[in-house]
Amino acid sequence: MNILVTGGAGFIGSHTLIELYNAGHTAVVVDNLANSNPAVLQRVAEIIGVKEIPFYKTDIRDREGLERIFSTHRFDACIHFAGLKAVGESVEKPWEYYENNIGGTLTLVEVMRKHGCKNIIFSSSATIYGDPAEIPITENCPKGQCTNPYGWTKSMLEQVLMDIQKADGEWNVVLLRYFNPVGAHPSGRIGENPNGIPNNLMPYITQVAVGKRKELGVFGNDYPTPDGTGVRDYIHVVDLAAAHVAAMRAIERRCGVGIYNIGTGHGYSVLDMVNAFVRVNHVDIPYSIKPRRAGDIATCYCDPAKALSELGWQAHCTIDDMVRDSWNWQRQNPDGYPEE
Ligand code: NAD
Ligand code: UD1
Repeated sequence: MNILVTGGAGFIGSHTLIELYNAGHTAVVVDNLANSNPAVLQRVAEIIGVKEIPFYKTDIRDREGLERIFSTHRFDACIHFAGLKAVGESVEKPWEYYENNIGGTLTLVEVMRKHGCKNIIFSSSATIYGDPAEIPITENCPKGQCTNPYGWTKSMLEQVLMDIQKADGEWNVVLLRYFNPVGAHPSGRIGENPNGIPNNLMPYITQVAVGKRKELGVFGNDYPTPDGTGVRDYIHVVDLAAAHVAAMRAIERRCGVGIYNIGTGHGYSVLDMVNAFVRVNHVDIPYSIKPRRAGDIATCYCDPAKALSELGWQAHCTIDDMVRDSWNWQRQNPDGYPEE
């Protein structure tokens, strides 16, 4: 299949390009580079062994720009990663988040429909469950109250895409609810490259390891969890990328709407992650206990059985693979990608 990958220069999109090509698909990337660097696409091309990945520096809110791309290429499907994802920033700038994530998606699906491309895989998030009603979280668990505008954009866009499919059965919509993506391609050539101070745990740990930050702040050790620190379902980004290839097979089978949790089904605490990082990589991670972070929940991990039974997908990487590959990327690229 020939696939439009929005946000393909980002962390998850870049890893997914590799899995798509390995599975025999081709891709065209649309990204406005708001949170990414074009160097990533050259590195992806090198890993895949192609000269280049077709790329348009275009904003998905730019209807005419998208029209031109759809007039030049014929797409069988779209994998839609493009969006803003910083939780704290979304609280400060809600308008920007609703406009970019929701406005951008509405423009994208309208242009897709006009050009007869009615297959989409959407990057949703575990955040739509809010404080989950049950652990492990199944797809039947009710959606919850999000604590921030970013989470609401995911929750609302799930509804938008399901309604579009309901109104026109030619659409196939797969909603992938990612748990906590970490790790990097084993080559160490591509990985997570956050701007400024990382919000998420793993990039913070790797930046402490590489000497860019003094110590990790552990946000609370009084949660009702085995060691008191927050428990999450960390998933290796290469496993996550492979889930999109499996979802593409579901689209080929004309699945209608498919909703899947994409996690490992294992919960690890903050200190489990720190200890695994130190044990596997032989690097010290100084840390101190800080107050809880507003909006955090104690425990979040999924039951990924539906993805296995319906998509034939499951995660294979271990916590050791995750911490090793995260460090391999950061160690080789202490300052991320080179600026253009
Ligand atoms: P990322 O920021 O690395 O990638 C997103 C890409 O989208 C970036 O390259 C950015 O430049 C691009 N983009 C943003 N707005 C755009 C626009 N209007 N037009 C064109 N391009 C635009 O993020 P990621 O971690 O790779 O996440 C990919 C998707 O998965 C996002 O939708 C994110 O919300 C979702 N998600 C991520 C996580 C996570 O922890 N990384 C968890 C759950 C869901
Ligand atoms: C965060 C987002 C969530 C998003 C998810 C996936 C918030 C409130 N939530 O969730 O919307 O879908 O990422 O990317 O930001 N931790 C520390 N010290 C740190 C950083 C994190 O102790 O410096 C702890 C957190 O308290 C949490 C765990 O590590 O227990 C994981 O945190 P993080 O990586 O930010 O992910 P989530 O909180 O699950």
